[in-house]
Formats: sequence, structure tokens, C-alpha cells
Amino acid sequence: MSIQTISTKPFAGQEPGTSGLRKKVTVFQEPGYLENFIQSAFDSYAPVAGKTLVLGGDGRFYNRTAIQTILRMAAANGWGRVLVGQNGIISTPAMSCLIRKHKAAGGIILSASHNPGGPDGDFGVKCNIANGGPAPEKITEAIYAKTESITQYRISNAPEVDITKIGVTEIDGMRIEVIDSVLDYADMLRSLFDFDAIRGLFARGFTMRFDALHAVCGPYAKRILEGELGAKEGTVVNGVPLEDFGGHHPDPNPVNAHELIEYLSGPNAPDMGAATDGDADRFLIVGRGFAVTPSDSLAILAANATRVPGYSKGISGVARSMPTSTAADRVAAAMKIPCYETPTGWKFFGNLLDAGRITLCGEESYGTGSTHIREKDGLWAILFWLNLIAVTGKSVNELVAEHWLRYGRNYYSRHDYEQVDSARANTLMDGLRQKLPSLVGYRKGANVIERADDFSYTDPVDGSVAEKQGIRLMFADGSRIIFRLSGTGTVGATLRVYFDHYEPDKNRHGLDPQEALSDLIGIAADIADIAGHTGMSRPTVIT
Ligand code: G1P
Ligand code: ZN
Repeated sequence: MSIQTISTKPFAGQEPGTSGLRKKVTVFQEPGYLENFIQSAFDSYAPVAGKTLVLGGDGRFYNRTAIQTILRMAAANGWGRVLVGQNGIISTPAMSCLIRKHKAAGGIILSASHNPGGPDGDFGVKCNIANGGPAPEKITEAIYAKTESITQYRISNAPEVDITKIGVTEIDGMRIEVIDSVLDYADMLRSLFDFDAIRGLFARGFTMRFDALHAVCGPYAKRILEGELGAKEGTVVNGVPLEDFGGHHPDPNPVNAHELIEYLSGPNAPDMGAATDGDADRFLIVGRGFAVTPSDSLAILAANATRVPGYSKGISGVARSMPTSTAADRVAAAMKIPCYETPTGWKFFGNLLDAGRITLCGEESYGTGSTHIREKDGLWAILFWLNLIAVTGKSVNELVAEHWLRYGRNYYSRHDYEQVDSARANTLMDGLRQKLPSLVGYRKGANVIERADDFSYTDPVDGSVAEKQGIRLMFADGSRIIFRLSGTGTVGATLRVYFDHYEPDKNRHGLDPQEALSDLIGIAADIADIAGHTGMSRPTVIT
């Protein structure tokens, strides 16, 4: 076995987006494409001699091939030890947990999260740092810069490593430990939640359907929910990870998890439904005939945190991404703790968590997390809900209704326009930016725009500034419309339009969200000329 230095040329566009580098599998299959990016990432972790790396992915197509390449490159770059998930499987939250627990210098997650998989689907690489969280922008920018000038990468010619069996092996002096990634992750959850109370809940006949959407959470959910907490066998459905997710789009929102939504509205509905995404960091909670919005979920978990052992001493603060509804702000105000508003993307929560300024954080895109790790965590959120149900004796629907009664309801929806021509999408956003000053004072019916800006964030911990993070139209009654372009897509541009309207009147808490938001939806269409720019008369996805 020997270490080889291979000459290479830069590939254009290896710029990590909201969450790592995502491209079509066919792009990653181009010779040198993955290697260039990994070499650039390894250089940004330097010096790596003797250090530990954690490596795994969500099991999608190309996962196993990429793992072999990265192992050989890790050996050639001098890493001391690599912890790799058995069969290459590690969920995003388990990765964060493993990095922290084993004091690794970083981790590489092979995932395109909720994007479809398979030979024609998407693949992705996310780089995490020693705190267990996604690399912050200054690192992802440095990686990108390196990819633009790379001339060579290092790789060993060692033979394929067997990652199907737990155990220890070695290539070129680098130790490889093939691990069962469920163990440490389950230990961590056990330390946060009242497993006895949840066991009692299931023992009393509580029923649940957990849809793993054939993605990575299946093995974790089966062992923890069915194996340890006593949920009846068959609670976890679509629990075997498949390379193409069984053709599903593994995004746990009511559109892609519609089978779960229908089941919870049907005659055999269990007490609760839940789902997780491709890499298990996103989640969905469903009550009977009702899906909880992630923004409400964050607010409800914050308001009830002290009922759960891991947070019984209280929470220091909360953070939400800017487009997430302001429901959590109201809880924070009542609890007299700070609420931070960050740009979209988990990487912006890392500093706040590290500095102890916040305990809980979340995004409207079905992600919530806490200080326990530095990623959002689907199964953690689901256990949090189960723990609350177990100790309050209330159903999902009751917990939500009570919350609205006390704090008011934020009607919320996100409209996505997918695969828009990139130039046209940018023209729409530029047009809005130019119009911003003239939009203040805009009035339609009772809706008056009080402020309009392009969101800019100054990190209170390190002072770094992120600009152009989304156009915000803020109305006199607290309602908001937000426009931004997705940073995770692989084809054209995706325009996201977010609507948030606060309703304090309990007699108006039973409306259909699209109806409650119809004025705002009409205003957004007019102001941005969405149909004119996108050529679409309606969104492709409404969540
Ligand atoms: C989307 C979500 C964002 C999330 C990211 C990664 O990014 O909107 O909240 O952090 O996926 O899961 P976007 O495509 O909007 O850039
Ligand atoms: Zn994900």
C-alpha cells in the first residue's frame, strides 16, 4: 500500500450552500469531483495528524463508494483514526453526538438531507467541526476557495475496507473503527428524557406510527422506540434505509409524508404520528387529523421544557431562523429569556449554543435542536413530545390548542416555487430589493407595511456578518412576508415565500391556514409579480 499524489484540475461551483455541497449523483461521479472537495475540506481541518474523524452518511446511493474513497484519502492525509458507521450509516444528529463524545476534530456526513436519492438523485457532503456542528461560513468559504485552485489530492491505494462488520482495522497506519452509531446516540437520549415515563405511556396502550420514509432514522427509531421504550412492533414503518428511499422524497412535511397524514385522519388513527427525513435531523409531529407546524413545535417545547429531565433547570434562551414564525418569541418574552433571530441554516446556531446563550433552537423547515448536540435532531424532538405527552396526560392536539389559548396562534405557511430559471429568480429578488424603500407605507385593506428590508445578521458572539439573507416585509400588526432563494437545491432556483400572521383571538384559531393567510398571499403575489417572473400561477409545494 502506498500514498499517491494525483494531479487534478478545479471543478467550477464546489461552493457549499445552506447545508454542505449538494449536487446530482452524476456530478459527484465525475472522476476527481469528490476527491477535490474532500482534499479541500481536509486542508481546512489541518493539521490532522493523529486526530480523529467521524465518517458516515444517510445510506443513499453512492454512500458506500464515497466512504471507501474518503477512507483512503483520510489515510493519505495523515488522520490518526476514523470512526465509521457500520455499513456507512450515521444520521446527522448521531454524527454530532459522536464527534462530541469522542472528541473528534470533525466529521464528514454524506447526505443531501431530504433531497431524493438514487442514481439520478442527489448526493451531498457536509463538513462538521469539533463542536459537532456544521462548519461555519468562514470555513465553508475557505473550502470553496481551495476547490478553485486545487492542483492535487492525496489518496492511498489500499484495498476496500470491510465496513459491514463492527471492529477495528488499519490502513497505512490509520486506525479505522467500524461502530454501531445507535449506541452512543441512544445513551445521550436516555440522559435527557424520562424513559420510564415514556415506557409507561406505551404500556398504557398509547399508539404511534413512525414513518422513517426508508431513510436513515429507521434503525435508530426501531431500536429506541420499539426495542427500548415498548412501542408495539410495527410502530416504525418504512424502517429499512434504501439507497433511493423507495423512490420517496424523504422530507417529513405534510406534502411528502402525506400517507402518514392520511393515516392519522383515518379510522385506524393511532394517538400520534411522526416522521423524519433522509438524514434524520428533520421531523414532523402529527396529532389526530392535524399536523403541528415546526414553528409551533419550537414554541411548545420551549414553553414546556422544564417538564423534561434534561431541561428541568430551565432554558437560557431560544433562537429561530428568521423565516420561522414568531411563536417562540412570545414564549421567550413570557419567560423573560432572550430570543435570537438568525439567518436560515443550522450553522448560525452553533455560536449561540456554544456560548450558552440559548438552549433550544429551530427552523420552520421541520428542524429543532438544543445544546445536547450541534445539529437539529428529529428523534430527539419526537421523544421530547412523547415525554410531554407522558407527563401531562394530554394529546398532541390538546397541547397545541392549550398553547394557542395562552399565547395566541401564529398562522404560518411556506410556498415554494421550484425549478425556476435562476436568472429570472434573481431578477425577482433584485426587483424586490430595489423596491424596498418605496414599500414602506404600502397599504391594502387593513394590512400596512411598516418596515421592509433585506435581512442582515451580526453574530453576537464573534461579530461575523451575514448579509442578503432574505427580503422581509413587516406589517403593522406583526404579520410578515419573507422572500428568499433556497441554498440547497440542485436544479435551477427555488423561490421560498413565507407567511406569518398572528391571531390572538381564540374564536379565530380554527381557520384553515391558507384561508387565514389569503390577504398576505395576495399581497406577495402583487408586490413581487411572482407569476410574471416565474411563469407559475401557483406554488409547486405548500407546507
Ligand atoms: C433548507 C431550509 C433550511 C435548512 C436547510 C438544511 O434550506 O429552508 O431551514 O436549514 O434546508 O436542512 P434552503 O433550501 O431554504 O436554503
Ligand atoms: Zn436533513
